[in-house]
Amino acid sequence: MVPTGKKGGSPSRPRPRLPVTVRPVRASDLDEVVRQRLAVLRDMRYASAPALRRYVPRFRRWFRRELGAGRLWGVLAESAEGRAVGGGLVWLQPRPPSPRFPQQVGPYLFSVFTDPDRRGRGVATRVVRALVKTARERGYPRIELHATESGRGVYERLGFAATTQMRLTLRPARRSRRSSGAGASGGRSRGLS
Ligand SMILES: CC(C)(COP(=O)(O)OP(=O)(O)OC[C@H]1O[C@@H](n2cnc3c(N)ncnc32)[C@H](O)[C@@H]1OP(=O)(O)O)[C@@H](O)C(=O)NCCC(=O)NCCS
Repeated sequence: MVPTGKKGGSPSRPRPRLPVTVRPVRASDLDEVVRQRLAVLRDMRYASAPALRRYVPRFRRWFRRELGAGRLWGVLAESAEGRAVGGGLVWLQPRPPSPRFPQQVGPYLFSVFTDPDRRGRGVATRVVRALVKTARERGYPRIELHATESGRGVYERLGFAATTQMRLTLRPARRSRRSSGAGASGGRSRGLS
């Protein structure tokens, strides 16, 4: 999805906004970022438990490297007690040269998450706004993501719209032999989210 400025979704606001502070992710937030990343993937039933366990050290290495190189940024939403209740990440994906845009990377928004007991109170909306603001300030012409069902409304209200992207699955995702596969999405077509 890319933002178009068009507003969609439900205008109703049945619950008061949760007071949170949205601040940049630091290298020392890695444990919290991993907690949120796993929660998103579990919520999506994206991979089996053993696959997620193998994924964690790879993600931790990748996060440290990309954050250090300036190719990754993110925010955490903290409650009044200073506890992280949500967050999101943006990664600069390599892009081929474009006749329209000078940058050969494009921001990709993913891992947007709010703790289940804090949802529906505008936390993700503020997280996404903050991430989009940074992308805009850094001069990127657009920002992309793959939306889950629960995230779609948040993004649409902020102006994101579906694009022409298509995908052909060439090989189903590997399934763990130790796992029955329960909860894993197997070859289903998904984005990074
Ligand atoms: C998707 C997810 C991040 C949304 O988090 P959230 O904090 O509940 O999101 P928000 O509160 O900003 O918005 C959710 C809904 O609450 C509504 N809402 C209620 N009170 C609100 C308020 N005070 N301010 C803003 N929105 C409010 C919004 O209208 C929105 O409704 P909509 O989806 O019909 O448009 C959360 O459900 C989640 O973590 N899901 C699992 C992981 C996931 O799917 N992540 C997305 C990856 S793409």
